[in-house]
Amino acid sequence: MGPIDFAAMTIARIRATAPGRVNLIGDHTDYTGGLVLPMTIDRAMVIEGHRTTGAVVLRSANEAELAEVPLDVDDPTRVTPGWARYIAGVIQQMKPTMGFIGTVTSQIPDGAGLSSSAALEVAVALALGFTGSSTDLALLGQRAEHAASGVPCGIMDQLSIAAGDETGATLIDCHRLTVTPVALPPDLDVVVVYGHHRTLIASAYADRVAECAAAEVLIGPLRLATTADTDRIANPVVRARARHVISENQRVRDFAAALAADDRAAAGSAMVSSHNSLRHDFDTSTPQMDALVHTLSSRKGVWGARMTGGGFGGCAVALTEPGVFQTSETERVWVVHPAPGARVEHL
Ligand code: GLA
Repeated sequence: MGPIDFAAMTIARIRATAPGRVNLIGDHTDYTGGLVLPMTIDRAMVIEGHRTTGAVVLRSANEAELAEVPLDVDDPTRVTPGWARYIAGVIQQMKPTMGFIGTVTSQIPDGAGLSSSAALEVAVALALGFTGSSTDLALLGQRAEHAASGVPCGIMDQLSIAAGDETGATLIDCHRLTVTPVALPPDLDVVVVYGHHRTLIASAYADRVAECAAAEVLIGPLRLATTADTDRIANPVVRARARHVISENQRVRDFAAALAADDRAAAGSAMVSSHNSLRHDFDTSTPQMDALVHTLSSRKGVWGARMTGGGFGGCAVALTEPGVFQTSETERVWVVHPAPGARVEHL
């Protein structure tokens, strides 16, 4: 073998991009195999750097502390700083043989219900060389989230981000794991408005998952149940949770049909009903989020609004006529557009 020509060697730079997502309708349905209708948005998490040995080392512009996670990490929940746990979750689940060194930049606010942690998981997996299908990428990200945060989340966020559609929203069947593009009328704005910070860690999210499981023991899979079936649930809390999930699945169908027919009033009213169901039956809203949704949906040119994502705070999403709102970083209002799903480039 001749001498190694170091001058001819280049270190391959990698850029992994994962968008955030806003869920237009269908919340707290994914972990019972229900329907959701999210849209990947033009605010993304970008990891850039190169493969290396031994560890994943990432510096984030948004975080004070460096994340440095060894490839043999065994308990992601013990990793510090907190944001490095999601990286550790991916490493633990993916078991890559090579590490990575680079930077993270994010335009996805955290604690806002726009899936910044799922975007981080998906981007890390791509940066580390994940090559499977978007469904497998999403399942890996979901397992990483469970391992990192202990939040027993469903598949919506990771699958939306892995399989996003740059032309519109997506209807996801969380039982079959199918993703169907849903076109949005061109002259309609999707607006995200920040309400207040929240975390799902140690929140009542896990209680809601357990309450839905309790309902399923009594009446079978909620994705197949009807609201009449809820009469057989004696516990009023569990009955209300089931009523939300069953009615929310129907609202997702109604919303998709309303968009297809360009019936904005019907689409908006499904959003408002969804919020009311999250508020009264699922008990995941807060007084501030209720007030925000009320203010938004009362405004001229707004067809409907609702809290989006896991709840207990975060953001509201509204469907509006064009130009009713402008993006304002200081007011934390974002007019968002559909963006492609997660991708990796070799630079
Ligand atoms: C969070 C979870 C998702 C989903 C939503 C609520 O975003 O990560 O799996 O359950 O809450 O719809």
